[in-house]
Amino acid sequence: MKKIGIIGFGVVGSGVYEIIRKNKDILTKNAGEEIDVKRILDIRDFSAHEEAHLFTKDFNDLVGDSEIDIVVETMGGIKFAYEYTKALLSSGKSVVTSNKELVAAHGDEFFRIAKEKNVRYLYEASVGGGIPIIRPLANDAAANDICEVSGILNGTTNYILTKMFKENESFEGALKTAQELGYAEKDPTADVDGFDACRKISILMSLVTGKKIPSEMVHIAGIRTITAEDVTYAAAIGYTIKLIGCGFTKEGMVNASVEPMLIPESCPLSTVEDVFNSVMVKGNMVDTLMFYGRGAGKLPTASAVVGDVVDIVRSGEYNPYFSWEESDRESFIPYEDVEAKFFVRIEESQIPVAREVFGDREFIKGVNDYGFVTDEITIGKLAADIEKIGGVINKIRLYK
Ligand code: HSE
Repeated sequence: MKKIGIIGFGVVGSGVYEIIRKNKDILTKNAGEEIDVKRILDIRDFSAHEEAHLFTKDFNDLVGDSEIDIVVETMGGIKFAYEYTKALLSSGKSVVTSNKELVAAHGDEFFRIAKEKNVRYLYEASVGGGIPIIRPLANDAAANDICEVSGILNGTTNYILTKMFKENESFEGALKTAQELGYAEKDPTADVDGFDACRKISILMSLVTGKKIPSEMVHIAGIRTITAEDVTYAAAIGYTIKLIGCGFTKEGMVNASVEPMLIPESCPLSTVEDVFNSVMVKGNMVDTLMFYGRGAGKLPTASAVVGDVVDIVRSGEYNPYFSWEESDRESFIPYEDVEAKFFVRIEESQIPVAREVFGDREFIKGVNDYGFVTDEITIGKLAADIEKIGGVINKIRLYK
């Protein structure tokens, strides 16, 4: 029997417990031996829980227990989670996490310790909730040079955008429901302002390139700037708007960004709604792969965590293919050098100068202003051209 510990009995941690209890037989079959929960660390009071004897407030009850081989860290945040994870790996225990902030910031350090101690540090649940994406990238796409990973990586913002634009719900109302459903981060600005998606694209591109992509190298813009008028324009030109995490490699260099993008209705990402996430992966041999599923929520996320636990029960030895090394800051493509088309909104009075700077093109009438699509240009050139025409009302990158 494999005994596990759980740190943090919140939405995901309690989901892990529930799956281990409910799917006991299937887990035994899939892991090759029984998995049981021995200890749960949480500072809150669970004395009324039906298995209250499992709970402790003392970390030493987990790290010092030689019967516990695997610990699930679902507490979130950095401070304590960092110290606990380091101590657990150093004491020879494997760790499974859903904590994307921690993986993105300190994954490289934890992989080094895991290698030294010949244990595992797994993080499937840190990206895309219940969607298998880490393991397919590490294993199944191994024959490919992965040149691009992009998609909808945040369930809360996708839920908000869907509710706002399909059901006319207010931004605040949709965010509140997402929080009530357990989708949002403790601090929902991490969702709304793109930091959560940033951590996820950083993890995916770190895995793909084998080098840490620090969050500060990722261009980040959230969904606060998107208005109902933008959506009306989008619909008029056959597009929808989604918050997209996007990473690509070119001649050994890498770029990653998070920003709202216009998605053509012909692209399957445009149909991804509510809390669902989807990741598109481009490999030079396999072409495009698409992964889809629930990007947040108790049981979908816990399913990915328990999947990692099963993997470790099958083999607890360090596996280098799930890891990356420290950052190589030389090899980043600046955001300004990224090429894309943009949808730009301007005042009617700016049309003549816009025609001079961007060339003749169709100017689409909105409610109060006009919009047009640029040619493919670098983001740096776009900024310079916008300055030449005296500023714009809004600009949104087109997904390609
Ligand atoms: N707050 C995150 C989201 C949870 O909404 O996607 C899952 O990572």
